Amino acid sequence: MQDKLDALVAEALQAIKACRTGNDILNARAGYLGKKSVLNDLFSKLRNLPPEERPAFGQKINQARNQIEEALALSSEEVKKAAWEKQSSAAAIDLSMPGQSLARGGLHPLTLVRRQIEDVFVSMGFQIAEGFDIEDDFHNFDALNTPADHPSRNLADTFYLENGLLLRTQTSTVQIRVMEKYPPPIRIISLGRCYRNDKPDPTHLPMFHQVEALVVDEGISLADLTSTLQQFAQIMFGAGVRSRIRPHFFPFTEPSAEMDISCVSCGGTGCRVCKYNGWIEMGGAGMVDPNVFDAVGIDSERYTGFAFGLGIDRIAMLKYKFPDLRILLENDLRMLRQFK
Ligand code: PHE
Repeated sequence: MQDKLDALVAEALQAIKACRTGNDILNARAGYLGKKSVLNDLFSKLRNLPPEERPAFGQKINQARNQIEEALALSSEEVKKAAWEKQSSAAAIDLSMPGQSLARGGLHPLTLVRRQIEDVFVSMGFQIAEGFDIEDDFHNFDALNTPADHPSRNLADTFYLENGLLLRTQTSTVQIRVMEKYPPPIRIISLGRCYRNDKPDPTHLPMFHQVEALVVDEGISLADLTSTLQQFAQIMFGAGVRSRIRPHFFPFTEPSAEMDISCVSCGGTGCRVCKYNGWIEMGGAGMVDPNVFDAVGIDSERYTGFAFGLGIDRIAMLKYKFPDLRILLENDLRMLRQFK
């Protein structure tokens, strides 16, 4: 039996030395150490030996097993090393080949502009407030001093839901939500989607985005509104940009205004972007109407405030110089890939 064992070990060591791949090694291990191996067979025959010979022979079998294990480990290292050397040799890797580029996602231009706007106002001391896309008549209209017979409540403009709620037509709803919850001083912006039943065209989308600003404190005046707008316009579009307000009407502000900035394309001399009038409309604004303060229980004798709402889509359009708002919703990769 000893001879048989020696012959087996010698054979195994030779075979293991000849292994060239990981698979060879797996096969050799199974063949020489596995369940059906000669070694295993010898081991099971141990009990046929006289009891006094068993320990010595058992030890021999174990020695043989260890030798084979060692050889396998060594060979396995060598196979791995050889494979690595082959792979990293100049012939296998051509460092001049172009790498595989991974497709990288980017941020949507609206997200980029939205974040820029947030940064500007946060740097001016504003907090960011969240509102809801689905609202009720109270927050979208009543509390904003918009009586039931006001044209903007028209079903043709507002998307009503079957349960009587509606998709907010303006972010001014957040003015109410904030004033209901927090006492002055208030200095917030809120950015989000708004919905109006408009036919999509180059300058209108049925779903669009606004940034609402609301400041309420003692002694807030129209000058605070105009200077905030001016500062925002300059940070967003450059130091040369001018801003102005024009009289307008909104139910929830008194006085009310529309805000323009000088055309970012021609600087005010007139071009296609500003339809040759030198100014571009950015949104609505005004001093908070005392009736709105009454609706939310803020003392209108003590506090004044201003609010404005700007179109984010419009700002993105001016910033990135694209001609048609509908591009924002089409998800055309040729357009999206230009933004990171
Ligand atoms: N909510 C108004 C609109 O959507 C804009 C606005 C906001 C006007 C705040 C005045 C004050 O047109």
